[in-house]
Amino acid sequence: MIEEFPLFAGLGGQARAALEACLHTKVYPARVMVVSEGDDTRSLYLILDGRVKVFTSDEDGREALLCTQGPGEYFGEMSLFDEAPRSASVMTLERTRLAMLGRDDLLRCLQDHPGIALALISELTGRVRRLTEQVKSLSLQDVYGRLTRLLMTLAERHDGQLVIDPRPTHQQLASRIGASREMVTRILGDLARGGYVQMDSGRMVLAERFPRAW
Ligand code: CMP
Repeated sequence: MIEEFPLFAGLGGQARAALEACLHTKVYPARVMVVSEGDDTRSLYLILDGRVKVFTSDEDGREALLCTQGPGEYFGEMSLFDEAPRSASVMTLERTRLAMLGRDDLLRCLQDHPGIALALISELTGRVRRLTEQVKSLSLQDVYGRLTRLLMTLAERHDGQLVIDPRPTHQQLASRIGASREMVTRILGDLARGGYVQMDSGRMVLAERFPRAW
Protein backbone atom coordinates (compact mmCIF):
# COMPACT_ATOMS: atom_id res chain seq x y z
CA MET A 1 0.00 0.00 0.00
CA ILE A 2 2.81 2.47 0.84
CA GLU A 3 5.27 1.40 -1.85
CA GLU A 4 4.16 4.39 -4.00
CA PHE A 5 5.30 6.86 -1.29
CA PRO A 6 8.79 8.34 -1.83
CA LEU A 7 8.77 8.95 1.95
CA PHE A 8 9.02 5.21 2.63
CA ALA A 9 11.28 4.33 -0.29
CA GLY A 10 14.08 3.21 2.03
CA LEU A 11 12.03 0.62 3.91
CA GLY A 12 12.52 -3.09 3.34
CA GLY A 13 9.56 -5.45 2.86
CA GLN A 14 9.32 -6.43 6.53
CA ALA A 15 9.46 -2.86 7.87
CA ARG A 16 6.91 -1.78 5.28
CA ALA A 17 4.53 -4.56 6.31
CA ALA A 18 4.96 -3.59 9.98
CA LEU A 19 4.14 0.02 9.20
CA GLU A 20 1.16 -0.91 7.03
CA ALA A 21 -0.27 -2.90 9.92
CA CYS A 22 -0.51 0.41 11.88
CA LEU A 23 -2.42 2.28 9.14
CA HIS A 24 -6.15 2.98 9.24
CA THR A 25 -7.61 3.49 5.79
CA LYS A 26 -10.72 5.55 5.18
CA VAL A 27 -12.54 6.86 2.09
CA TYR A 28 -13.79 10.46 2.18
CA PRO A 29 -16.32 11.93 -0.27
CA ALA A 30 -15.52 15.17 -2.14
CA ARG A 31 -15.50 18.47 -0.20
CA VAL A 32 -15.06 16.98 3.28
CA MET A 33 -12.80 18.61 5.90
CA VAL A 34 -10.19 16.10 7.04
CA VAL A 35 -8.17 18.48 9.21
CA SER A 36 -9.33 21.85 10.57
CA GLU A 37 -6.92 24.67 11.32
CA GLY A 38 -6.49 25.02 15.10
CA ASP A 39 -7.57 21.46 15.96
CA ASP A 40 -5.57 19.57 18.56
CA THR A 41 -5.17 16.28 16.72
CA ARG A 42 -1.99 14.37 15.87
CA SER A 43 -1.87 11.98 12.96
CA LEU A 44 -0.16 11.83 9.62
CA TYR A 45 -2.35 11.28 6.55
CA LEU A 46 -1.05 9.49 3.46
CA ILE A 47 -2.97 10.10 0.23
CA LEU A 48 -3.65 6.78 -1.50
CA ASP A 49 -6.10 8.10 -4.14
CA GLY A 50 -7.82 11.39 -4.86
CA ARG A 51 -6.87 15.00 -4.25
CA VAL A 52 -6.97 17.47 -1.33
CA LYS A 53 -6.39 21.19 -0.89
CA VAL A 54 -4.38 22.68 1.99
CA PHE A 55 -5.56 26.16 2.91
CA THR A 56 -5.81 28.73 5.66
CA SER A 57 -8.80 31.03 6.24
CA ASP A 58 -9.87 34.08 8.26
CA GLU A 59 -13.03 34.70 10.36
CA ASP A 60 -14.92 35.92 7.27
CA GLY A 61 -14.29 32.59 5.55
CA ARG A 62 -11.84 34.04 3.00
CA GLU A 63 -9.35 31.36 1.98
CA ALA A 64 -5.71 31.38 0.93
CA LEU A 65 -4.72 28.21 -0.87
CA LEU A 66 -1.34 26.84 0.23
CA CYS A 67 -1.17 23.84 -2.11
CA THR A 68 -3.05 20.88 -3.50
CA GLN A 69 -1.83 17.30 -3.00
CA GLY A 70 -2.44 13.95 -4.66
CA PRO A 71 -1.45 10.26 -4.44
CA GLY A 72 1.98 9.58 -2.89
CA GLU A 73 1.91 12.83 -0.91
CA TYR A 74 1.06 13.37 2.78
CA PHE A 75 -0.07 16.02 5.26
CA GLY A 76 -0.43 16.44 9.03
CA GLU A 77 3.26 16.02 9.89
CA MET A 78 3.67 19.47 11.46
CA SER A 79 1.41 19.08 14.52
CA LEU A 80 2.77 15.63 14.93
CA PHE A 81 6.28 16.99 15.49
CA ASP A 82 5.73 20.30 17.28
CA GLU A 83 2.57 19.21 19.15
CA ALA A 84 0.95 22.59 18.36
CA PRO A 85 -2.56 22.90 16.88
CA ARG A 86 -3.06 22.15 13.17
CA SER A 87 -1.40 24.90 11.14
CA ALA A 88 -3.88 24.77 8.22
CA SER A 89 -7.06 23.04 7.05
CA VAL A 90 -7.21 20.18 4.58
CA MET A 91 -10.30 19.42 2.49
CA THR A 92 -10.93 16.73 -0.12
CA LEU A 93 -11.45 18.04 -3.67
CA GLU A 94 -12.75 14.69 -4.94
CA ARG A 95 -13.43 11.24 -3.51
CA THR A 96 -10.20 10.53 -1.60
CA ARG A 97 -8.75 7.47 0.11
CA LEU A 98 -6.43 8.27 3.02
CA ALA A 99 -4.32 6.12 5.32
CA MET A 100 -3.92 7.54 8.82
CA LEU A 101 -0.78 6.90 10.89
CA GLY A 102 -0.77 7.73 14.63
CA ARG A 103 2.03 9.75 16.25
CA ASP A 104 3.49 6.93 18.35
CA ASP A 105 3.62 4.53 15.40
CA LEU A 106 5.39 7.10 13.20
CA LEU A 107 7.89 8.05 15.93
CA ARG A 108 8.72 4.38 16.49
CA CYS A 109 9.24 3.93 12.78
CA LEU A 110 11.52 7.02 12.63
CA GLN A 111 13.71 5.61 15.39
CA ASP A 112 14.15 2.34 13.53
CA HIS A 113 14.55 3.96 10.08
CA PRO A 114 16.27 7.39 10.25
CA GLY A 115 16.09 7.61 6.44
CA ILE A 116 12.41 8.51 6.80
CA ALA A 117 13.34 11.48 9.00
CA LEU A 118 15.69 12.71 6.25
CA ALA A 119 12.91 12.38 3.66
CA LEU A 120 10.54 14.35 5.92
CA ILE A 121 13.15 17.10 6.41
CA SER A 122 13.73 17.26 2.68
CA GLU A 123 9.98 17.68 2.01
CA LEU A 124 9.69 20.35 4.74
CA THR A 125 12.64 22.18 3.20
CA GLY A 126 10.83 22.14 -0.15
CA ARG A 127 7.74 23.61 1.52
CA VAL A 128 9.78 26.43 3.09
CA ARG A 129 11.32 27.18 -0.32
CA ARG A 130 7.88 27.36 -1.95
CA LEU A 131 6.66 29.62 0.88
CA THR A 132 9.67 31.91 0.34
CA GLU A 133 8.67 32.16 -3.32
CA GLN A 134 5.09 32.99 -2.30
CA VAL A 135 6.24 35.67 0.17
CA LYS A 136 8.51 37.15 -2.49
CA SER A 137 5.69 37.21 -4.98
CA LEU A 138 3.18 38.69 -2.50
CA SER A 139 5.55 41.38 -1.25
CA LEU A 140 7.36 42.34 -4.41
CA GLN A 141 4.88 41.83 -7.25
CA ASP A 142 1.54 43.50 -7.99
CA VAL A 143 -1.61 41.44 -8.65
CA TYR A 144 -1.03 41.45 -12.42
CA GLY A 145 2.53 40.15 -11.97
CA ARG A 146 1.38 37.47 -9.52
CA LEU A 147 -1.46 36.31 -11.76
CA THR A 148 0.58 36.08 -14.96
CA ARG A 149 3.39 34.30 -13.10
CA LEU A 150 0.92 31.78 -11.64
CA LEU A 151 -0.67 31.17 -15.07
CA MET A 152 2.76 30.43 -16.56
CA THR A 153 3.52 28.06 -13.66
CA LEU A 154 0.25 26.16 -14.16
CA ALA A 155 0.57 25.91 -17.96
CA GLU A 156 1.86 22.81 -19.73
CA ARG A 157 2.87 22.52 -23.36
CA HIS A 158 0.47 20.54 -25.56
CA ASP A 159 0.90 20.42 -29.36
CA GLY A 160 3.09 23.51 -29.22
CA GLN A 161 0.58 25.53 -27.17
CA LEU A 162 0.76 26.65 -23.52
CA VAL A 163 -2.38 25.16 -21.96
CA ILE A 164 -3.97 25.02 -18.51
CA ASP A 165 -6.32 22.05 -18.47
CA PRO A 166 -8.74 21.99 -16.75
CA ARG A 167 -9.22 25.74 -16.63
CA PRO A 168 -9.13 26.99 -12.99
CA THR A 169 -11.98 29.18 -11.72
CA HIS A 170 -11.31 32.86 -11.10
CA GLN A 171 -11.84 32.22 -7.37
CA GLN A 172 -9.22 29.44 -7.35
CA LEU A 173 -6.69 31.73 -9.03
CA ALA A 174 -7.56 34.58 -6.63
CA SER A 175 -7.05 32.33 -3.57
CA ARG A 176 -3.60 31.32 -4.81
CA ILE A 177 -2.32 34.86 -5.24
CA GLY A 178 -4.04 36.67 -2.36
CA ALA A 179 -6.24 38.82 -4.60
CA SER A 180 -9.99 39.34 -4.99
CA ARG A 181 -11.98 37.33 -7.55
CA GLU A 182 -13.20 40.59 -9.11
CA MET A 183 -9.62 41.74 -9.74
CA VAL A 184 -8.69 38.41 -11.35
CA THR A 185 -11.82 38.58 -13.55
CA ARG A 186 -10.93 42.09 -14.64
CA ILE A 187 -7.31 41.27 -15.55
CA LEU A 188 -8.27 38.04 -17.34
CA GLY A 189 -10.94 39.96 -19.29
CA ASP A 190 -8.32 42.46 -20.46
CA LEU A 191 -5.84 39.67 -21.32
CA ALA A 192 -8.58 37.87 -23.31
CA ARG A 193 -9.45 41.07 -25.19
CA GLY A 194 -5.76 41.56 -26.01
CA GLY A 195 -5.54 37.98 -27.34
CA TYR A 196 -3.14 36.84 -24.59
CA VAL A 197 -5.56 34.32 -23.08
CA GLN A 198 -8.12 32.18 -24.86
CA MET A 199 -10.84 30.05 -23.29
CA ASP A 200 -11.21 26.86 -25.25
CA SER A 201 -13.70 24.11 -24.19
CA GLY A 202 -12.73 23.91 -20.53
CA ARG A 203 -9.07 24.77 -21.18
CA MET A 204 -7.15 28.02 -21.02
CA VAL A 205 -4.64 28.69 -23.81
CA LEU A 206 -1.93 31.25 -23.08
CA ALA A 207 0.22 33.43 -25.31
CA GLU A 208 3.97 32.74 -25.19
CA ARG A 209 4.52 36.00 -23.31
CA PHE A 210 2.34 38.44 -21.41
CA PRO A 211 2.84 42.24 -21.47
CA ARG A 212 5.28 43.26 -18.70
CA ALA A 213 2.72 45.44 -16.95
CA TRP A 214 -1.04 45.89 -16.97
P1 CMP B 1 -0.47 20.10 10.35
O1 CMP B 1 -0.17 21.46 10.86
O2 CMP B 1 -0.38 18.97 11.29
O3 CMP B 1 -1.96 20.10 9.71
C1 CMP B 1 -2.16 20.88 8.54
C2 CMP B 1 -1.18 20.41 7.49
O4 CMP B 1 -1.18 21.15 6.29
C3 CMP B 1 0.25 20.60 7.98
O5 CMP B 1 0.47 19.77 9.09
C4 CMP B 1 1.02 20.31 6.73
O6 CMP B 1 1.04 18.93 6.43
C5 CMP B 1 0.12 21.02 5.72
N1 CMP B 1 0.65 22.38 5.47
C6 CMP B 1 0.61 23.45 6.29
N2 CMP B 1 1.18 24.52 5.73
C7 CMP B 1 1.59 24.13 4.50
C8 CMP B 1 2.25 24.80 3.43
N3 CMP B 1 2.59 26.08 3.48
N4 CMP B 1 2.54 24.06 2.32
C9 CMP B 1 2.18 22.78 2.23
N5 CMP B 1 1.53 22.09 3.21
C10 CMP B 1 1.25 22.76 4.34
